[in-house]
Amino acid sequence: MRHLLAPSILSADFNNLSKDIQLINESEADWFHVDVMDGVFVPNISFGFPILKHVKKISQKPLDVHLMIVNPERYIEEFAKAGADVITVHYEACVHLHRILQSIRSLGIKAGVAINPATPVSVLEDVLNDADLFLVMSVNPGFGGQKFIPRTIDKIRQLRIDLDEAGSKAVIEVDGGVDATNYKSVIDAGADVIVAGSAVFNMPEPREAIKNLKA
Ligand code: DX5
Ligand code: ZN
Repeated sequence: MRHLLAPSILSADFNNLSKDIQLINESEADWFHVDVMDGVFVPNISFGFPILKHVKKISQKPLDVHLMIVNPERYIEEFAKAGADVITVHYEACVHLHRILQSIRSLGIKAGVAINPATPVSVLEDVLNDADLFLVMSVNPGFGGQKFIPRTIDKIRQLRIDLDEAGSKAVIEVDGGVDATNYKSVIDAGADVIVAGSAVFNMPEPREAIKNLKA
């Protein structure tokens, strides 16, 4: 599969969010990555439904919603209504992971599972065929602009093997600290979807940055 690039709007200019969304619309990017943080699961609070609905109104690409919140099962339906195309929950935040994946899929949305840097890929063994996307965090979730954790590369490789062995068609997404210096190694390891915040929005010409990363 050709890889997909998902710019994270966490790093966009909130004084002019519509302009940055328009810019992504016109770019070669594939998805919008939307980071929702509750200040409990992660030590930061980002944004919720009002912003998501605004993004949905003007975005022309699928919305990839990454929930860094506790008890995500409480909000799945509302995120679906707000326009999410993919909903990813954290393994570490779900007591009944299998149930929540089923309920996301029952809404006709793609279901994703994210794992933190300290969580081994092996915990996913029993849900490899129950999600459409597996997100390997390459920084500790909570903030944009952090440094990529190199050990992630081995985790992506292992997950690719595990998915192939299980006959799963799910995609692997990588999130955090990805830039021009490590982009290729992440893809070579087996990633299908690359999230990039700073490497897109902190650049003078985000559209060019997207083009260069994808090339
Ligand atoms: C981190 C978020 C990431 C973040 C990526 O908690 O999940 O999506 O916005 O930003 P960069 O690419 O700057 O690390
Ligand atoms: Zn994210």
